[in-house]
Amino acid sequence: MQAFADQARRQGGTIAFIPTMGFLHEGHLSLIREGCRHGDEVVVSIFVNPTQFGPGEDLDTYPRAFERDCELAEKAGATLIFHPNREDLYGENYQTYVTLEKLPFHLCGLSRPVFFRGVATVVTKLFNIVKPHVAVFGEKDYQQLMVIRRMVRDLNFDIRIIGGPIVREHDGLAMSSRNSYLSPEERKRALCLSQALNQAGKMVQAGVRNVSELIAAARKIIEVHPDAVIDYIEIFDPETIESLTVVDSPARMALAVKIGKTRLIDNTLLTP
Ligand code: PAJ
Repeated sequence: MQAFADQARRQGGTIAFIPTMGFLHEGHLSLIREGCRHGDEVVVSIFVNPTQFGPGEDLDTYPRAFERDCELAEKAGATLIFHPNREDLYGENYQTYVTLEKLPFHLCGLSRPVFFRGVATVVTKLFNIVKPHVAVFGEKDYQQLMVIRRMVRDLNFDIRIIGGPIVREHDGLAMSSRNSYLSPEERKRALCLSQALNQAGKMVQAGVRNVSELIAAARKIIEVHPDAVIDYIEIFDPETIESLTVVDSPARMALAVKIGKTRLIDNTLLTP
């Protein structure tokens, strides 16, 4: 992969990179298509990164469909699929990690304490291997996108980070590889995430500014379902991820909810 990247760069080519954990859906494919607008080579990595999973999480059951992923990625414009194995990236006596001091201590980082350390580490490694000029990440994982942007600035990576909008199913559910875990009944209930965000969005449009009121309304929509367990619902500054009490400028609202055994996340922009 490094030799390929060096050669592409020597020939004056631009490398766009889309890191994924596979089981590709339209959300991933939209990022690959965005990558095509920025790179001569469009590299898609498929690697279920063990260091970002905590104990008891779904590392071993994470859905996989490598052959299908390759077909879909190529159709969307990928010119190269990078599919390392665990030993390639984390050999014996591996001991180096990338950590951030503030951003991980909010939202998903609280219930998934090793998650952002794993993401920052693997993305650093992938950047050093793929040597991209541009990398594309989805806003679906909003905090992850903020962590990557911060890390790229802090560590002087010479890589432009592009964010892609959330791609949703027709009924509003944000696409996710983990949606495949949902039973048909749970799939219906999972709609409460986007409904709660939409409700808050409408309230902001109608003039509500008070964050507690917005969160209470969202909570009510989710708590209709007894097996939906809220991890967090937050409204925060889009840059620092610090919680807000009033929405008087564009803010992000994000939530994480467990539907049965499946933890789902979603977010939206609130514009007063
Ligand atoms: P994964 O969950 O496979 O997601 C890969 C990329 O696709 C991420 O940038 C994610 O934000 C984006 N994505 C997922 N669902 C999306 C949707 N519905 N709309 C738009 N974009 C979407 O995120 C990871 O993998 C990993 O943490 C990774 C960055 C690869 C590091 O291991």
